[in-house]
Amino acid sequence: MKKVKLICSVVVSCLLFGRLNAQTVLTVQADRPGAAIESTMWGVFFEDINMGADGGLYAELVKNRSFEFNKPMMGWKILGKPATEGDFLVVHRGEGYTANPRFLRVTLHGGSGGQRMGLSNEGFRGMGVREGVKYDFSMLVRQTAAKVNLHVGLVNKDGQSIGGGSLVSTATGEQWEKKTLSFRASVTAPSATMNIWFEGEGVIDMDMISLFPEDTWKGRPGGMRADMVQLLADMKPGFIRFPGGCIVEGFDLSQRYQWKKTLGLLEERQLIINRWNFEFAHRPAPDYFQSFGLGFFEYFQLAEDIGAEPLPILNCGMACQFNSAEVAPMSELDPYVQDALDLIEFANGEPGTKWGKVRADMGHPAPFHLKMMGVGNENWGPQYVERLKVFTAAIKARYPDFQLVNSSGTDPNGDRFDYLNGELRSMHADIIDEHYYRRPEWFFGNARRYDNYPRNGAKIFCGEYAAQSDHTVSVDNRNSWLTALSEAAFMTGLERNADVVKMASYAPLFAHAEGWQWTPDLIWVDNLRSYGTPDYYVQKLYSLNKGSRVVPITLHNEAVAGQDSLYATAAKDDRTGELIIKVVNASGKGQVSRLSLAGVKKVPGKASLTVMTSSQLGNVNSFASPQNIAPVTSEIALKGKEIALELAPYSFSVIRVKIYPAVP
Ligand code: AHR
Repeated sequence: MKKVKLICSVVVSCLLFGRLNAQTVLTVQADRPGAAIESTMWGVFFEDINMGADGGLYAELVKNRSFEFNKPMMGWKILGKPATEGDFLVVHRGEGYTANPRFLRVTLHGGSGGQRMGLSNEGFRGMGVREGVKYDFSMLVRQTAAKVNLHVGLVNKDGQSIGGGSLVSTATGEQWEKKTLSFRASVTAPSATMNIWFEGEGVIDMDMISLFPEDTWKGRPGGMRADMVQLLADMKPGFIRFPGGCIVEGFDLSQRYQWKKTLGLLEERQLIINRWNFEFAHRPAPDYFQSFGLGFFEYFQLAEDIGAEPLPILNCGMACQFNSAEVAPMSELDPYVQDALDLIEFANGEPGTKWGKVRADMGHPAPFHLKMMGVGNENWGPQYVERLKVFTAAIKARYPDFQLVNSSGTDPNGDRFDYLNGELRSMHADIIDEHYYRRPEWFFGNARRYDNYPRNGAKIFCGEYAAQSDHTVSVDNRNSWLTALSEAAFMTGLERNADVVKMASYAPLFAHAEGWQWTPDLIWVDNLRSYGTPDYYVQKLYSLNKGSRVVPITLHNEAVAGQDSLYATAAKDDRTGELIIKVVNASGKGQVSRLSLAGVKKVPGKASLTVMTSSQLGNVNSFASPQNIAPVTSEIALKGKEIALELAPYSFSVIRVKIYPAVP
């Protein structure tokens, strides 16, 4: 965040904003803090969509490392000319091997006159390589050849070598061995490829051919892209929802997300097609698969790293109802329910328990303190309700305090929503997950959505939302200042109703500029770079300025939810003793708002003011201009118990002023 020092002055702002509206008085009842704001209030939603995991957060650079894509050589090219037919063979181990059945067998003919042969991997839209960074190559090898020299290297777009090294592989007989090699890249290249040249004679089998940068998040070998995790960590999210999204449901049940298959040795994690591979004919992604290198253990670890509560969402025995709409018969639901029970044991159980031991063996003997779980993603109808009841009974019988998140379908209104809302409330649901992908007008118009929700009973999780500048699944959607501003306005209503709304997350989270299927998205990346959209900065501002209790703020004795194009909310931060006020000016005119702090004995002479604004609602951030629209923080001088606040046209302002004693 950029920091500048300003002294707030109405005169200056009049000059700046030109046309100021008449003053409005927003009254803050600073001595009447109300509902608690949960630490989980603002979180993030992660799904492997838009190359979010493979090709994105998961830092593996080799695409199709285990030859398990439906086309086994997708991403690979043979270099040189094989001497005989069958020198490169994809071998299937046999029916018994479901996790990683295939490997590549290469027959080398050796001799000084032997053909030069090799393999090349194109990476995910190329490999992003950075000068000076160490790259760790590894593969599983089994060979009859006495000795094979392997020359592994990166080449840039022009075919120039930009780093590499050699390793000698000697006969292993029937035994698979892991061979490794590290080297540094000599230049930065956004779209390199990796070549492996062979020298020797005999047969060499290869599998799990991998290349990782060393500079992953926390330097973990085989880990995540540090820049992407950093953007999440910077938000200090209250929770992280994973692994989706529709990916939980799968196109059909065979492609549903099965967390148990995402644990343990990488070569034992069974790859499946990513359901976003073929979902949109207008954005096909034939090379999009889930390797599960990023699996449930890694998600829990990520949650812990960034201080977020883990929120896994599990399949409820129903595949995506927009796709196959397959259901598991009620008589066959047990394995699904057992998965849910076992997940709690995996996350929280003692290392002496079956699943607690799996976690401990993966390097985390301490529990992950899982407190909640979603059952079903966007499922609906009586089929969902009857399955949910079975899950709920089984989980609550074993873990009575465990919180369950239930689906309210795909839309925030309509027959499906009304039906589920009624059913879930009569079931005494803990938390209802609502989704809204709507135009900005909807977000501005729904800042009061939760004002009249029942105060008792089920709490709300705004589990997926994003303003659509065009319409849902349109390729023309943009993360503009308008979308972000409308979300900021809407979120005042979430915070004001923190007694009802317990959690909220924008969706989707990541998109690769060359590999996306769905837009808008919170964070955009390419092979080397990443940037937050204006929507990202709005989410971040809410999260970093959460507060602990809602404080009433009104305009003419009413919640500030659109009058004079203003939206506002206030909170008290018990920890720092600050009053935090958020105000959105959705009009194209500057406004002066007097913030009157009622019930306050003394106000300090200064406060901090953070503002996001942009002259054009269509403005965006980009790789070239990642902070075009970003928060700017300044210090403002205060006089008396009022804050004269100049609200720029189309702006979102956050004021922090210390008026309470801090609670240590
Ligand atoms: O966020 C993209 C998709 O939108 C999610 O996978 C799904 O839950 C919703 O329909």
